[in-house]
Amino acid sequence: MAFSTLASPLWLSRSAFFLKTSLLHSGTRALTRRFTGPGQPSTFFSPISLKPSFKHLSAIRSASGIVAQKSSDSEWSLAREDVVILGIETSCDDTAAAVVRGNGEILSQVVSSQARRIAGKFSLPIISVHHMEAHALVARLVEKDLQFPFLALLISGGHNLLILAHGLGHYVQLGTTIDDAIGEAYDKTARWLGLDMRKGGGPALEELAREGDAKAIKFSIPMRQHKDCNFSYAGLKTQVRIAIESKNLSVENNSISSTSSHERRLRADIAASFQRVAVLHLEERCERAIEWAMNIEPSIKCLVVSGGVASNQYVRTRLNHVVEKNGLQLVCPPPSLCTDNGVMVAWTGIEHFFCGRFDPPPRADEPKDSMFDLRPRWPLGEEYSQGKSGARSLKRARLHPSLTSIIQGSAQQQV
Ligand code: KG4
Ligand code: ZN
Repeated sequence: MAFSTLASPLWLSRSAFFLKTSLLHSGTRALTRRFTGPGQPSTFFSPISLKPSFKHLSAIRSASGIVAQKSSDSEWSLAREDVVILGIETSCDDTAAAVVRGNGEILSQVVSSQARRIAGKFSLPIISVHHMEAHALVARLVEKDLQFPFLALLISGGHNLLILAHGLGHYVQLGTTIDDAIGEAYDKTARWLGLDMRKGGGPALEELAREGDAKAIKFSIPMRQHKDCNFSYAGLKTQVRIAIESKNLSVENNSISSTSSHERRLRADIAASFQRVAVLHLEERCERAIEWAMNIEPSIKCLVVSGGVASNQYVRTRLNHVVEKNGLQLVCPPPSLCTDNGVMVAWTGIEHFFCGRFDPPPRADEPKDSMFDLRPRWPLGEEYSQGKSGARSLKRARLHPSLTSIIQGSAQQQV
């Protein structure tokens, strides 16, 4: 059985705000929906830390005895003390949950030190999984014939990575982002355009872009003067913001549902033009990465594209052209396995487990306040020496040895 511990910095911060529904007991899900009513957010995210224990679940169950009154089809009339909200906060060191009554009364609050504690309690071996490695390796679950070496483009909310995967745990980083990742740019643009963010900024923007003219606004493609495989999306974000402001579109209180059809068209043009250039940047970097990768490993046959943004149909189609042009095959997991999911973590655990790469169970009596070496900017592989960029920002400066160097170091010790 596998448990994971590692993740990227943006994964950390975002997971504090988005609900991981899989963590919810089905009964509690029904409860939150029941008490919030239609059109309302079904969850509330509290900074309070809690653990989903039996005590906690029984607090939820006893609270579920309260009955909400529906005064009309769309309105719920509830006294504050009759509203009970479950808040879940997840991050890589803790999972916390709380049940709080509308009047501020805390019914239950608990913190769980995640995978590690469970592994200790049940004497299970533990496998540390790098979040971005999991995005890449899930492609081997989907495409059973996918052999090393392969090239991978990993595009998510916090990362843009081009890696050459030589073997399990052996990666060379050809490119990374020097500032923002593409998913962050999608999300910010979607927010500024007043899109409904409930299903995520990326999917909403992709949908609106279908209505727009992708050549209506001339955004410039980032980093063309740098002949490397690194990425930058901060400048494109700024260009979008300027375009929105120059068309006198408000970026605050600007829901697209309340705009005229003319204004909707303007926003769709911005969305489509943004998407075109954001993806052109990916295409250009992939072209160069394919060239580099074929020089290093001529046997490469596939480009894996994974991470949340890889669920975008436009991205998939455009990258497929690049890959076909270069005589390679595109391997893209289905959208449900591109965005964050438990399957990719479990599968990566399986890959490492069968190579004998796992740690013994932690002590069951491990002190609750034990310190762990969590690496929010843990690089996946060593940088390709010829690919180092002069444009690299200090924000991404190397803080830790890469996963690859750690695995290679421990393999040498065992010999
Ligand atoms: O990998 P992921 O699920 O979480 C992180 O590790 O960050 O990626 C989330 C990112 C978000 O920025 C989200 O807006 C973006 O992936 N995303 C998309 C699409 N679906 C998810 N971006 C563009 N188009 C999509 N269809
Ligand atoms: Zn992810």
